[in-house]
Amino acid sequence: MTTITLVQGDITEQRVDAIVNAANSSLLGGGGVDGAIHRRGGPAILNACRDLRASHYGAGLPTGEAVATTAGDLPAEWVIHTVGPVWQGPGSDPTLLASCYRESLRVADEVGARSVAFPAISTGVYRWPVEEAARVAVEAVRAAETGVEEVRFVLFDERMFWVFTAELS
Ligand code: APR
Repeated sequence: MTTITLVQGDITEQRVDAIVNAANSSLLGGGGVDGAIHRRGGPAILNACRDLRASHYGAGLPTGEAVATTAGDLPAEWVIHTVGPVWQGPGSDPTLLASCYRESLRVADEVGARSVAFPAISTGVYRWPVEEAARVAVEAVRAAETGVEEVRFVLFDERMFWVFTAELS
């Protein structure tokens, strides 16, 4: 049974087994959550990402897929990197956004993570409308067959926190 919790705060401060990164396909860092995770987690994460690019992900991590690395100096065991879809305007297909949550939980099960913190994937630089992104996120987590016991949505600002709260009620 997976419990879903909501926290307003910084995902890099969450003491969980795995922290999910809203990455881009290069896996080589960026702004937003990605920037915060690499800044706080230190070079070990980027080194592990570079190794992934040199081995399994020569062309980068495809949108909707997920892969785990060390969490470096973060208060977690793993970072699970996933690449959300960029919003293409009204009618954008949210299938790949749902896949980010499903695949991140599948990777969490592979590494044995029992608690997983998610940001609101694709709702920043990738411009996904927050209400739809929250609905997709909650539906995908609720539908997932996973051994993860706690899924924690970590919302950076109050507005996002209330949007997710409304989705969960
Ligand atoms: N903790 C929790 N949430 C955060 C944090 C943080 N430290 N920093 C930002 N956020 C929130 C944003 O407010 C937004 O709601 O995470 C959500 C996702 O925003 P982005 O980080 O911009 O991610 P995304 O929209 O998926 O875009 C990914 O941005 O940073 C680049 O390299 C990344 O190219 C990729 C793109």
